[in-house]
Amino acid sequence: MAYKIAVASQKGGVGKTTTAVNLSASLALAEKETLLVDLDPQGCASVALDFNQELLYRGVYEIFMRNFPPAGSVHRTEVPYLSVIPSNIWSNNAEEEIARASINRTLLARSLEELDDDYLFIVMDSPPSMSHLTVSALVAADSVLIPVQAEFYSYNAFEQFIRLVKTVRLSVNPDLEIEGFLLTMYDDRTNLAHEVEEALRRRFGKLVFKTVIPRSVALAEAPARGKPAIFVNGRSTGARAYLQLANELIRRQDKRAKYRSRV
Ligand SMILES: Nc1ncnc2c1ncn2[C@@H]1O[C@H](COP(=O)(O)OP(=O)(O)OP(=O)(O)O)[C@@H](O)[C@H]1O
Ligand SMILES: [Mg+2]
Repeated sequence: MAYKIAVASQKGGVGKTTTAVNLSASLALAEKETLLVDLDPQGCASVALDFNQELLYRGVYEIFMRNFPPAGSVHRTEVPYLSVIPSNIWSNNAEEEIARASINRTLLARSLEELDDDYLFIVMDSPPSMSHLTVSALVAADSVLIPVQAEFYSYNAFEQFIRLVKTVRLSVNPDLEIEGFLLTMYDDRTNLAHEVEEALRRRFGKLVFKTVIPRSVALAEAPARGKPAIFVNGRSTGARAYLQLANELIRRQDKRAKYRSRV
């Protein structure tokens, strides 16, 4: 059974896509069969894996329209153990059609269930909003990972997003967990980064990942090369941080599996 993680936050530019791409690649490097689903019409995760969304006939659009079996939207990447359902909802029409179709919030969840046996992890990248696409991701997910840029702390924004998670729990997905808050673009030299970290750990305690993602040129440059950062510069601090995050997740997943086999 695939463990499904939605990377989400209504705030733009906090590192959602960078996290979705590099976490997926790090899970794949650990030989965990992984699927990345790019739910953002901007298609940045697809581009980061060298997929040009305008040339794609099968992708996320077909998943929501349910006009093909979901496996037909899956593309293999150059990274072993990593596949992607790219975003091909670049036209306004496509986006409007999806908006109408996804009034049924469980469409994506049901499609991904059909792929459950093929992957150990499914990671979803979502757009910077609380729109139908983000809600669809939360409905399909086992848990949500919330990146937090270590340069700005907005208590209200978190509370608003957590309310959305609670609404999804109450309505369609009672088992949705918060996987954790992930500090991103952390610059150890600034007081602000430390202040944001302190405020976040004070408020959310163990829900904040031990791993912190540093500000790293390698992470910013990799998308232009169409490869995840570990395959451009595996020794960079950014790439190593995402490997550490993947290990944190794999260890948790092993614990959950042990627990399930006992009960
Ligand atoms: N740790 C990092 N170090 C340096 N640059 C980073 C890091 N994380 C992200 N970036 C850069 O910051 C910008 C925003 O990151 P990203 O696209 O991952 O955020 P996002 O939350 O997905 O944005 P959007 O809300 O627009 O989808 C990008 O240019 C990205 O390359
Ligand atoms: Mg993004």
